[in-house]
Order: sequence, then C-alpha cells, then structure tokens
Amino acid sequence: MNSLSLNNLLTAIFDPLEPIYIKSGGELAAPGDPQVTGIIPPVAPGNFGSKAFRKEFDLRFAYVGGAMVAGISSVEMVEELASAGLLGIFGASGLRPDAVEAAVARLAGSLGGRSFGSCLIHTPHDPEWERRVVGIYLERGVTLAEASAFLQISPDLVKYRVTGLTETPDGQIRSRNRVMAKVSRAELARRFFAPPPQKILDALLQKGEITPKEAELARFVPVAQDLTAEADSGGHTDFRPALSLWPSMIQLADELTRKHDYAQPLRVGAAGGLGTPHAFLAAHDVGCSYFVTGSINQACVESGLSPAAKALLAKASQTDVTPAPAADMFELGARVQVLKYGTLFGARSQRLAELYRQYGSVDEIPPAERENLEKKIFLKPLSAVWEETEAFFRERDPAQLAKAENPKFKMALIFRWYLGQASRWAIQGLLERQTDWSVFTGPSMGAFNEWAAGSHYEDPANRRVAELALNLLYGLSVLKRFSLARDLGLVPDDLPLSVKPLPPEELMEVI
Ligand SMILES: Cc1cc2nc3c(=O)[nH]c(=O)nc-3n(C[C@H](O)[C@H](O)[C@H](O)COP(=O)(O)O)c2cc1C
Repeated sequence: MNSLSLNNLLTAIFDPLEPIYIKSGGELAAPGDPQVTGIIPPVAPGNFGSKAFRKEFDLRFAYVGGAMVAGISSVEMVEELASAGLLGIFGASGLRPDAVEAAVARLAGSLGGRSFGSCLIHTPHDPEWERRVVGIYLERGVTLAEASAFLQISPDLVKYRVTGLTETPDGQIRSRNRVMAKVSRAELARRFFAPPPQKILDALLQKGEITPKEAELARFVPVAQDLTAEADSGGHTDFRPALSLWPSMIQLADELTRKHDYAQPLRVGAAGGLGTPHAFLAAHDVGCSYFVTGSINQACVESGLSPAAKALLAKASQTDVTPAPAADMFELGARVQVLKYGTLFGARSQRLAELYRQYGSVDEIPPAERENLEKKIFLKPLSAVWEETEAFFRERDPAQLAKAENPKFKMALIFRWYLGQASRWAIQGLLERQTDWSVFTGPSMGAFNEWAAGSHYEDPANRRVAELALNLLYGLSVLKRFSLARDLGLVPDDLPLSVKPLPPEELMEVI
C-alpha cells in the first residue's frame, strides 16, 4: 500500500461510524464499486460491552462511573452520566444514612426512571449502617447496589437482592434489585456468582423478612449477575494486574454459569487502570461486559472533591501514587492507593501503620517519636486527639469506647482519627492541612493526564464526566477499527496509533 492510500485509510479509521470499502492494493473504494474486495465495518461506541447489560440497565453505553466514597461520586455526577446514557453509582459509603437517603431520593426524582446505582459497602464494624442503608434502598426503590468490601455474603445483602423476586407465567425469574459486586479475589467471586446461601435464606424467611416465594426463587439466581473485577485501582485495592485478573474472572463466570445452569450468563466488568482508549481496548478484547472508571472521574467538575485537590490530581503522573493503610481496616493490613503528588499522607500514614505494628499502646511509643507525631502529623497532643475521639464515639457508637479499654485498640482509634480526617481535609480543600490530604487515586489518573495533555481536557475545569467517558469510547472505536485493519494486513503491523480526545463540539458528531 502506498503512503497516500495509507493516509486515506487512517483518516477513514478516525470516523468509526462509516464503513471503509477497500479494493485490491489496499486502496479505498466508494460504496458499490465492483472492485471492492473487503470492508472494515463501522464500530459504534454504543456496541461495546454486553448487549444484555445495556438492555438490563437501559443504557446507551456499557460504561459505569463507579462509587466514590463520601459523595465524591456525587448526585450531580450520577445525573450527568445518566443524561448521556451511562450508568453512575452514588458514593454512599462513609455518609450517614440520612444523607444517603436524601441523595437517593433526589436521584429517584431527577432521573425520571433512568438507571442509577448506589454503593452498599460492607461494614462489619457497624452492622447498623448496612441494615439501615438496605432499608433505605428498599424503601426508596434503589434497584442497583454496587456491593463493595464484602468478605462474605451478609444477610442484609441477601435481603436486598431477594426482595421483589417474581416469576412470570412462563417460568422466568424477574429481579427487582440487582447487585453489582466489586471483587478482586476468585474465592469471593465464587460466593457472589452462587445463589444466596441457604442458611441465610432460611433465617430471613423465619424472621419474615422475605416471602416463601422469594426464598424459593432465590435458589436459582446469583447474588450478583454482574461482577466488577477490580484490578490495581484508586481507593481500596489488592493491586492485582488487570491482564491477569480480568481473564481469570471471565473463566470463572463461564464455569459457574454452567455449574448453576443459570438462564442468563454471568457478566464480568473491568475496573482498575481504565484511563485511556488503549486500556479500554484491552478490557474489551479480553471479553469484559462493561467498563468501570473511578480515578479519572474524581478530577471532573461534578465530583465532590475540592477544586484544589482536583488540580493536584490533574497534574499527577502514573507514578505519583502510593499504597497507604486503609482507615477502616488498617489493623488487618488493608490498603488503599492514594496520591503522592503534593501531599505527604502516604509516607505519614505508613509510619502510623508501622508504629501500630511495633507497639502495644500509644504510651509505649518512645517520647521522641511521640513528639514527632504530635508536632508533624497530628498537630496536637495525642491526649487531645483521644478526647475528640472519645466525644465522637460517645455520641455515635459507645461500644467502640468499651473496646478501647484495650490499649492497642485505643491506639487504632487515635490513628484512625488521622487517616479519616485526612480524606475530609482533601474533600474540603483545607489548605493548611494540604500536606496531609488523603486522595484516593490509581495510576489510571496519570495515564489519563498523559492522554489528555495538550487537549481541551488538560484543564480540570473542562473535565465533564460524561464527555470523558464518551471520548474514551470514541477512542476505543478508532483503535478497534485500527486493529481490524491491522489484522487484515492493511496497515503495517508495527505502526503505533494513538487517538487524542476530541473537544465537545467534534465529539458529538462522532458518537
Ligand atoms: C476517590 C475514590 C473513592 C472510591 N470509593 C469507592 C467506594 O466507596 N466504593 C466502591 O465500591 N469503590 C470505590 N472506589 C473504586 C471505584 O468505584 C472504581 O472501582 C475504581 O476507581 C476503578 O479503578 P480506577 O481507580 O483505576 O479507575 C473509589 C475510587 C476512588 C478513586
């Protein structure tokens, strides 16, 4: 193929909704030309992912903006995604139940029936939260829960899933409530892909929390039809490599669909690392049914994070991230991935986790070290931190104070004060605590920044969550066409192709 033909072909590839007609020698042809020997078909962004998934949630695109804690994935973000035919999940974790209720009530009204989801995080240390939030979702008609941090299937989760199961006259089971499970480990995926445990169903039935019909039908449906395989991501993460994790979860979905003889195939969504069209192409080619993003959305105008923290995110590179102890479960070694650029939270929080492992109580910490903590990290005496913590739990959860008779647990509560406040300071944009900001983010943030460099989206003030999504899907369409052309031998196999984001007015013409 000569370079003129190659240039013409590449130009055509960038208009992915139009078929490309090829004649011998690789030259472009007009439709209907008798010399046409091959066609590269249109690749529409709306055709990626599972058709059943798009149908189930009535979406134009198999794209999900995942939950982000404490309303960072805000009501506005969910509304913006829904208005473009995408699926948004409200960040309910870390919020008080009344705030969750207000948010989902607004969404139920403002979306006029379009789909949305809300996070249901497993809270073994605060079972009342999980119970109340499930009650709110059932009452307010939230029909999709993104279930995260579950280590086992809980009765509240089962109650949510099973409530409203019905059977059509021809024997098909209809679900009112859907669970989208977020998982990084196969043993957990197995539990979500199985029907709810019989023991839990029996107990719920006995308490009258589900009906006999619901209990009967529950034996034929998975806890989660959709399972998001979360690779190395922002926030809580097992740092699993996407290209190992996604295929193994798909294999599991295949095995368990057959084993349980489900009427509908189980689906696996891709999350963790999705920040560029190339990453989307990988997830698509592996066979994932839908795409989930998080980090890139946090720097968007609709996110609940402070503008100052968004500005830091927009400058981060892929390596500006670091593991840190997770505020909720650091005693168990659970970790989150946070921003390293512009904040010292990563290093400081890791130091606290080390001290926690090393000593039995705050009183055992050597005086010089303790002084360092008080002057550099807490900015107040540890005794004052404990007074605040005590006052907080006296009102919220006095059982924690009883447990704090144990000095090691007391130390955990004091350290948790810092780990938790640090996220709040970033959300509020409290500049005097900027060096302590905890901002969850993964390498996909830096990957996106590299991709968007020099474009309309370099400036976070221009990052609108749905436009980013549509640009990524447009880029995916272009790359898919390019890879088809390469497989057909129409472009040199070592020619790299990249596709930049389009400004909004051009984007709307090709999507
Ligand atoms: C700031 C932030 C907060 C998050 N909070 C939650 C959460 O509360 N619940 C949840 O299921 N996932 C949470 N996630 C994970 C995202 O929903 C999503 O699965 C993940 O970010 C995808 O990987 P990525 O960061 O590479 O895009 C959070 C992610 C970020 C960046």
